[in-house]
Amino acid sequence: MNGRQAGVFTTLIYEVDGPIAHITLNRPEKLNAYNLTMRDELGEVLSAVRDDNDLRGLVIDGAGPAFCAGADLLEFGSAPSPTAARRLRFVRDPWALLEDLPVPSIAALHGYTLGSGLEMALFCDLRIAADDTVIAMPEVQWGLMPAAGGSQTLPRTCGVARALDLALTGRRIDAAEALRIGLISFVVPTDELTSATRRRVNELLELDPRAVRAVRRAVREGPDLPFGDGLKLEERLAAGLRAGDSAAEPQ
Ligand code: COA
Repeated sequence: MNGRQAGVFTTLIYEVDGPIAHITLNRPEKLNAYNLTMRDELGEVLSAVRDDNDLRGLVIDGAGPAFCAGADLLEFGSAPSPTAARRLRFVRDPWALLEDLPVPSIAALHGYTLGSGLEMALFCDLRIAADDTVIAMPEVQWGLMPAAGGSQTLPRTCGVARALDLALTGRRIDAAEALRIGLISFVVPTDELTSATRRRVNELLELDPRAVRAVRRAVREGPDLPFGDGLKLEERLAAGLRAGDSAAEPQ
């Protein structure tokens, strides 16, 4: 797929508006439940986002009444064998692509944001939620566990105790509680979600992209490093920025 190309897929819509890529999950009749086709299509468009050097940001939202009601429960019986699923996951892993994107990502949430939907949002840099958003990590209630990074991203986002509370109970929380525990960055009235997201995007566009890149790397990679190494990473990135030479940024 050409990096600048927009397109309508079976499960999502991909649009490019100048420097901003926009992915809309688009199975509204199934509350945008995440199925294998969506995984493949997300892999395709996220690769396009990664390879498009003119992009400065990505927005992901959901069509219809929900952001995403989690993994497609009806597909479990028809999914490939665990071995095949594992192999496919490494061939086209949308989560790794989302994590490694060179541009900032914003998830615009509304309605049910469950399981894989929440996991997808947790890979984004900013999460804006409409006040009707309902969030849960319900896998345990199905005898499953979060398997799209959630067992790792959730505690890194809101702390181990809160992550265990959400992942061991599967309980639903509203946008206000999600904001209070740091799971989302902003709550807005539902009818203002699109305009509020657009405002955040425009704010990002006003920033120096090299500074944005350096800050994202320091904040995203630092917590997985010993503290001293995190400080060294910050020092190297800051030095690279000051030198004004992208080649000075450590890889
Ligand atoms: N997988 C597959 N289909 C799903 C789905 C999922 N995770 N979530 C919703 N849908 C489908 C429903 O089957 C229904 O399809 P249908 O009209 O063909 O029967 C449609 O989306 C609308 O859902 P419905 O249950 O009628 O809406 P609701 O407002 O009454 O309830 C939920 C919404 C989200 C509470 C309910 O659908 C639900 O509990 N879904 C499962 C959520 C979940 O546990 N996800 C994590 C999986 S690990």
